[in-house]
Amino acid sequence: MFSDRVKNIELSGIRKIFDLAQGDVINLGLGEPDFHPPPEVIDALSEGAKKGYNKYGPSKGFPSLRKALAQKYSQWGDFTENNVLVTVGGTEAIMATMLSLINPGDEVLYPNPGFVLYKPHTIIAGGKPIDYPLYQEHDFVPQQDDILERITPKTKAIIVNSPNNPTGGVLDDRDIKMIVDIAEDHDLVIISDEVYFNIIYESEPKTFLGKYDKLIFVNSFSKEYAMTGWRLGYIIAPEEYIEQIGKIHYYTVACPQSPIEYAALVALEKSSYYTKMMVEKFKKRRDLIYSLLKDIPGVVPNLPKGAFYMFPKITIDIPVMDIVKETVKRGVLCTPGNAFGDNGEKHIRFSYAASEEDIRKAMEIFAEVIERFRKA
Ligand SMILES: Cc1ncc(COP(=O)(O)O)c(C=O)c1O
Repeated sequence: MFSDRVKNIELSGIRKIFDLAQGDVINLGLGEPDFHPPPEVIDALSEGAKKGYNKYGPSKGFPSLRKALAQKYSQWGDFTENNVLVTVGGTEAIMATMLSLINPGDEVLYPNPGFVLYKPHTIIAGGKPIDYPLYQEHDFVPQQDDILERITPKTKAIIVNSPNNPTGGVLDDRDIKMIVDIAEDHDLVIISDEVYFNIIYESEPKTFLGKYDKLIFVNSFSKEYAMTGWRLGYIIAPEEYIEQIGKIHYYTVACPQSPIEYAALVALEKSSYYTKMMVEKFKKRRDLIYSLLKDIPGVVPNLPKGAFYMFPKITIDIPVMDIVKETVKRGVLCTPGNAFGDNGEKHIRFSYAASEEDIRKAMEIFAEVIERFRKA
């Protein structure tokens, strides 16, 4: 009775692992800031509702918000509101992009390990997902040959994600140029998922924006303003892309949520201080969790340059899933690396969007678990 499309995708099994946890848990499993949205943005949400922003709005988003978003990125290109589509999170942005771009049989390159949406979104759109590997020894940066080897006449698009979930890897200008050159040579669309755009530690944001014509840039209010539950994202792309993607968007969600858009405009105008504050805290926590993981024999962490995830390799010869299950049973939620693709098999993802105290306690427990398995 159900479509092949839905039968060909599966919900992730991570929930089942989390269900093993009992009582008070330390949550290093979730992909979201442990902050609430900035106070002025919370005030603006109720103000927007009181002022009457409770009706359907323009399908592509309020012109004022679209203009402000175009302005936010003016350093990277001459964008106007016509280059901006406001979506229901980065999630809808990527889905609508796929549905407006992919014909049956078109191949889409995506990172492995990589964020959980790319493969199912490609399948739902009727395309063929082709993964390209990311390796810890290359700081989880894609390698030219690994991409080139996978390109065929059917390759339509490449998805890139920097800063990266789950690895924390960040592409530098050279990596970006390498991918843009490949896309140019093979006439590919680049879908650049940059929802961690501003969550970067060692440099200013490095972006694909302004570096390629056939670019669909995806970002979101979720991480930058700790608004994950408010579900607001956006695309920046050439006008004709916005027109076509906007059709799918219209027939899927009609329009973004009006009071949230009202509040998002306040976030853009007033709340960059808040992102900076979160990034400073994340950086301290990153340094802390890195130093603690580094001292655990059998665990090899990398120092992530962006986002808020550690993705250490486990070098002891025990299935990582057993380690994760035991760690979760002892009250520390974390995610097995293979939830992000089979190249994540030997890794565990820890989200360090948690207090320093929780990180310390969690790493103590994790070290005990590893020690027990090493001795077994
Ligand atoms: C890499 C990446 N892309 C997209 C998303 C989706 O974000 P949103 O909340 O904007 O839908 C996430 C959320 O975890 C993510 O990590």
